[in-house]
Amino acid sequence: MADRPLLVTSALPYANGPLHLGHLAGAYLPADLFVRYARLAGRDVVFVCGSDEHGAAITIRAHKEGTTPQAIVDRYHAELEHALDGFGISFDIYGRTSSETHRETSQDLFLAVERAGGFTRKTSTQLYDPEAGLFLADRYVTGTCPVCGYEHAYGDQCENCGSALSPDDLIEPRSTLTGAEPERRETTHWYLPLGDLQPKLEEWLATKTDWKPNVLGQVRSWLQDGLQERAMTRDLDWGVPVPEGVDGDPEGKVLYVWFDAPIGYISFTREWARQRGDDDLWRRYWQVGEDGTTPELVHFIGKDNIVFHCLIFPAVLMAQNEAQPDLPRFVLPENVPANEFLNLEGQKLSTSRGWAVWAEEALADFPVDLLRYGLAVGLPETKDADFSWAEFQARVNGELADVVGNFVNRALTFCARFTDGQVPALVEPNEKDQQMLAALETATATVGAAYERYRLREAVQEAVGLARLGNQYLQETEPWKTRKTDEQAMRNTVHVALQVCASLSILMEPVVPDAMASLRAMLQLDGLRSSEPPADSDRQPTGLGWSDAATPLLQTNHAIGEPGILFRKIEDEEVEAQRQRLADRAAAVETPEEEEPYADLAETITFDQFTPLDLRAGRIVAADVHPKADKLLRFDVDLGFETRQILSGVREHLAPDDLVGQTVVVVANLAPRTIRGLESQGMILFAENRDGALMPVTTSGEPGALVK
Ligand code: MF3
Ligand code: ZN
Repeated sequence: MADRPLLVTSALPYANGPLHLGHLAGAYLPADLFVRYARLAGRDVVFVCGSDEHGAAITIRAHKEGTTPQAIVDRYHAELEHALDGFGISFDIYGRTSSETHRETSQDLFLAVERAGGFTRKTSTQLYDPEAGLFLADRYVTGTCPVCGYEHAYGDQCENCGSALSPDDLIEPRSTLTGAEPERRETTHWYLPLGDLQPKLEEWLATKTDWKPNVLGQVRSWLQDGLQERAMTRDLDWGVPVPEGVDGDPEGKVLYVWFDAPIGYISFTREWARQRGDDDLWRRYWQVGEDGTTPELVHFIGKDNIVFHCLIFPAVLMAQNEAQPDLPRFVLPENVPANEFLNLEGQKLSTSRGWAVWAEEALADFPVDLLRYGLAVGLPETKDADFSWAEFQARVNGELADVVGNFVNRALTFCARFTDGQVPALVEPNEKDQQMLAALETATATVGAAYERYRLREAVQEAVGLARLGNQYLQETEPWKTRKTDEQAMRNTVHVALQVCASLSILMEPVVPDAMASLRAMLQLDGLRSSEPPADSDRQPTGLGWSDAATPLLQTNHAIGEPGILFRKIEDEEVEAQRQRLADRAAAVETPEEEEPYADLAETITFDQFTPLDLRAGRIVAADVHPKADKLLRFDVDLGFETRQILSGVREHLAPDDLVGQTVVVVANLAPRTIRGLESQGMILFAENRDGALMPVTTSGEPGALVK
């Protein structure tokens, strides 16, 4: 086991809404499993997170609710912290980016890079809201998406087709604050020249061959497109102010939220160190020490954060290292095991459509261990995964209760009934006994190796596998029979089964810590080091640890306590109630739309305004998903005289195969546009039903036929 200091981070949740199961499966539970394993393994680990309290999402929410951003973040910071704690996410510190330490840390870093010439300053025309008196960055402006025509696209992204946009791209832009039509005005900002930094980033990333393929894939495609400079400041009054002392006028400007938020990881580590009375202790986890000790930095995030953690934040850290070459060097992330998304009951999670399970509501209905297990075995590690209540019930009942719980219960009951509640001596064990004991070593190594490789689902499943072997062992050794025919054989079986229970209580500790604490209480097994954050006084872990699970832990004649139930089962009615709640909530959100069923008729146009459109029949000959924008489908459309590639933001509504072979109506003289590296040469027409479903406009005309 490497003993480099280890810093693990979970993406900072935005303090503008409550936590749901999708968040937990993305960045919090996986990190917690890994960290608890690392603590048991004796690693010197610090686990940091906190609320992301800046950014336009928060100010807009405040504006809508008629309150201040501060009031919003105060409320949600408390809620997030409570929910994460309820889920047993064992941070060493949970901070907030509105803190003084964070302001200071991010300003210092910005200033250092700025003074060393690490930014370029540029004046450009941007959208300005004359009524609110401010520039409209990112989410402050909505309008029609130039790519898919969706009418509520934001200035930074279209949520319908996933295209990255800049406010300038929007058709008919509107201020989200006042609804006013924006003007264009000049403003100056600090840009990070990512293009210049690209060779260094590539060189560094070339060493990361062991990163997850989904992460490397995204990173490579960004690099292939070529990195563009990005503004690191905004014209806003909520955020970390651009520090005094920069070259230029910082008045009215704040740091871009994606510049300051990752620096939160550093700020919170500093706060943690300060709480421990050692102001410099944070450096141990961020910087190369004088003796060459190099900490290991691991970011757990969801896939929408990959570019920020694998390219932009590392670029900022590189720029900092170059700006202050005489100071200790910051390390770049050792790994970024990003997860994909979690769907819910076969549909995309959507908080606005009421399609989400809130963390607090789940915790009110189920013991936290059951929820942790249910999520852990279905983590979206390599691809999007689905959470369903029926599957949750099946896994909890069929695995936790019927395999782990049942095995432990049998072992402890046999001990109570057949061997006076004491661990019997092992005398001349037979081959099965020996094999079972040998499995402790194999399981400890296998589960540990899976954790080391960030294969958390596998780690949890392999641990359950040990209990499964235990049940098989009891089935084969039949102590209820041998107790009459060969008493020592029965005593050996009980001995071995209890040892398996003891090891399980370590191997399953990361995922179901409450139940494993109960199990150790039943076994009267003391001395396991905690998987929780250590107290100030014991950063040097003592006691039993991960590797001790490989060998028998219970002494002969050790007294075992009362067996009890470790995991309760989930009833059918509970599953039904959860599904009903989701359906009710989704229906409640949809109802208001029914009052206004048809879209308003657009303004009248003249015949001459219509004729410039060249509409053609086109046969869809191939369809797949855009490799870099998973809300877009890519079609090859045969127009008779040529075949075109056309992108449409319809992935959420249609599967690629739904359309192949159909002849649809295409806007054939639309100027081509490149979206994330692919050119779209036209537009396919769809009819949008009142419930939002999209239907292709098909025709029986031949490919190339003029539609008029
Ligand atoms: N708040 C961001 C999100 O929810 C994540 C920020 S992670 C950090 O997508 F690195 F910026 F802190
Ligand atoms: Zn769009």
